[in-house]
Amino acid sequence: MNRGFFITFEGGDGSGKSTQISILRECLIEKGYDVILTREPGGTDISEKIRELILDPENGEMEDITEAYLYAAARAQLVRQLIKPALEEGKVVICDRFVDSSIAYQGFGRGLGDAVGIINTYAVDDCMPDLTILLKLDPERGSSRIAGREHDRIEQASDEFHRKVYEGYLKLEEKYPDRILGVDASGTIQEIADEISHRLDEIMER
Ligand code: TYD
Repeated sequence: MNRGFFITFEGGDGSGKSTQISILRECLIEKGYDVILTREPGGTDISEKIRELILDPENGEMEDITEAYLYAAARAQLVRQLIKPALEEGKVVICDRFVDSSIAYQGFGRGLGDAVGIINTYAVDDCMPDLTILLKLDPERGSSRIAGREHDRIEQASDEFHRKVYEGYLKLEEKYPDRILGVDASGTIQEIADEISHRLDEIMER
């Protein structure tokens, strides 16, 4: 099987993921890679519909466990419909968030713990990222960056929730040092982009 390369981006709200993702995408295309960019929750018609349901601020009565299952359901569809086929065709897949978001937000943030990993076993179906770039930014700075815009249901959660999410990410970084590359996201856009591309070059050469 001609397997591609699977990269995911993670980080708290306002950590600057979207900017870094588009810079990396351009950079890989310039180097001649066939790049597919997708996002979670979303990326397929069904997963985008699930996204609307999850993020709608009107759905305040949603149980935490329901939220965890919905993220996993959106992921199960994305993995099978888009990510796996693209990797089998040898493409580079960049995904804006993946299962680590569920571990950080639902596992640590909502306090669902190990249940989240269990729910996601079948959703991910052994399709784990080759590399995860974690943009590390203090959650207070992250929330001040998104202060001006309208907040979805998850962004509306308390500061304490976002602090737990951040701490969850740090634990994941410690647990999976070979897969998760933590990057200080408090620098300038160019500094962060340079660090990501430098580290990725080393990894892709291997
Ligand atoms: P999005 O607008 O994509 O946020 P961002 O631009 O910060 O990535 O909304 C996704 C939200 O869903 C975000 O607040 C993180 C949250 N989320 C989870 O709680 N669990 C998950 O498994 C995923 C994929 C996202």
